[in-house]
Amino acid sequence: MRFSRAFIPTLREVPADAEFVSHKLLLRAGYIRKLASGIYSWLPLGERVVQKVANIVREENNRVGGQELLLPALHPKELWDETGRSAVDVIFKLKDRGDRELVLGMTHEEVITDIVRTEIRSYRQMPLLLYQIQTKFRDEPRPRGGVIRGREFLMHDCYSFHTSLESLDETYRQMYVCYARILRKMGLDFTAVEAESGAIGGSISHEFMIVVDSGEDTILISDACDYAANSERCEIGDLPICEAPEPDALKLVSTPGKRTIEEVISFLGVAPEKLIKTLIYQDQEGEVVVALVRGDRELNEAKLGRVLGGRTVTLADAETIKALTGAPVGFAGPQGLEGVKIIADKELHSGGNWVSGANQEDAHVVNLNLGRDFNVSQWADLRVASDGDPCPRSSGTLHARHGIEAGHIFKLGAKYSAAMGASYLDQSGKEQPVIMGTYGFGVTRVVGAIAEQFADADGLLWPATVAPFDVTLLCLNVDEDSDAADKLYKQLKELGLSVLYDDRPERAGVKFKDADLIGVPVQLVVGRGAKEGKVEIRQRGKGEKREISLGEAASVAFAMHKDLIDQLTRSADAVRAPW
Ligand SMILES: Nc1ncnc2c1ncn2[C@@H]1O[C@H](COP(=O)(O)OP(=O)(O)O)[C@@H](O)[C@H]1O
Ligand SMILES: [Mg+2]
Repeated sequence: MRFSRAFIPTLREVPADAEFVSHKLLLRAGYIRKLASGIYSWLPLGERVVQKVANIVREENNRVGGQELLLPALHPKELWDETGRSAVDVIFKLKDRGDRELVLGMTHEEVITDIVRTEIRSYRQMPLLLYQIQTKFRDEPRPRGGVIRGREFLMHDCYSFHTSLESLDETYRQMYVCYARILRKMGLDFTAVEAESGAIGGSISHEFMIVVDSGEDTILISDACDYAANSERCEIGDLPICEAPEPDALKLVSTPGKRTIEEVISFLGVAPEKLIKTLIYQDQEGEVVVALVRGDRELNEAKLGRVLGGRTVTLADAETIKALTGAPVGFAGPQGLEGVKIIADKELHSGGNWVSGANQEDAHVVNLNLGRDFNVSQWADLRVASDGDPCPRSSGTLHARHGIEAGHIFKLGAKYSAAMGASYLDQSGKEQPVIMGTYGFGVTRVVGAIAEQFADADGLLWPATVAPFDVTLLCLNVDEDSDAADKLYKQLKELGLSVLYDDRPERAGVKFKDADLIGVPVQLVVGRGAKEGKVEIRQRGKGEKREISLGEAASVAFAMHKDLIDQLTRSADAVRAPW
């Protein structure tokens, strides 16, 4: 592509509303433009990268037997009513001219299960692995980082269908390897972590997290074994129980209007870890439970739900709290609560002389002690894990990092097939629900995440496998050296390389700046040395330039490109399933 003909609208100014490095650079280098919050256009350079990423995903999914199809973006709402997911808050809803309700697909479990329930009859038709690369819509409350969290985005979504859990295990393992290979091929630093299944349901899931400081998710990684988990999911190991201090006399203190932990600690002048946070929850049937965590900790609702045998819990309303504690919100404590289950985080085994709400308006108690002043019905791991916590699997410590979720794999089991009546006849002619897995990878998000991980002060630094072009060729003085550069351009193309050829009548400085900003990995420069048959070659971001002869320039560039691709392929080939 000749730069003089290319549509690459670069910007000098950093766009004001962009926070992420990747977002700024993708806008500045002419890869994307914003249409509205969380909605972006992919300009030609950006679209080339999107297609490269999509093709890597395609190739790797095909390797494990996936078959590509294309499902609609527009769905009848009733289909989503069957699984109860039409009530999910991020789903876009609309009506057609006949007042029929439709939704825009935010994922495709419902649509694919609808196909399977009509088309699959026999055990002989499984296992089956179907995927698509298609646009999704989600009315995200907080679009973020440009294409990283958009409201319209390209996803690879893949679905598997089985007659046994063993067969699902096998495909799940293959998809784990598939996603790891995709990320390695793109040179990304990532960690696969145990994850919470969330709205999609199902039992086991892993997320593939691209490790960057700007990542929205917190992940915890053990330093002594291969345990790694999303903080939403992460279990916490046991710490030795410290002996309780001598109990002091229980005291009631007046704390007028002090409801939050921050208000109480500053009013009483105590450290937050001296407080017991008393949280009152209700499950879907309305049953009330009390959960206790230390004042400086955060309760993990998913853990609480699991302790209660897989229920969904929500914070109780003010009326329920008043009925249980006799006090308005903000003054609850574990003492004297009757007829209710009290579940405490196991960390509260250590310590004593606690501060908590007094179950009276505008009052707290100090020197509250376990056994003497309150009791616990059940001990559990209840809080959100954080940096420095003990590993649940080994004697190691958990270390926190930030990540961007690139992909997510789930074992669904029969959840969707049971809800939607997708069944088949087994070998003995008996009807059985289809067993399913679901796998999602954010194609456009990953383009943003690559830009986030591979950038420097001058611009983007694409890994060779996803770069918009293989080589960029700069002709510094078009009046003098066009013939030599044109010839080299032709040779490079004949070798099968894609080339961005800067043939513009611009100053050398402008061309160098643009080449660095755009971030094509191999740079060839036809400059002063051209008269003596010399050109320069450089790898973007690797400082040192090398002078080579014009005659061998195309083959040297080809070798450099191939070497970069081979390194990434070798890294992908080294992926092994961890189990
Ligand atoms: N709003 C979004 N913008 C861009 N990519 C997204 C968005 N939401 C999800 N994705 C991508 O799609 C993949 C599968 O989505 P899923 O796990 O269903 O999403 P979530 O974890 O947000 O519920 C995610 O791993 C992510 O890469
Ligand atoms: Mg997810």
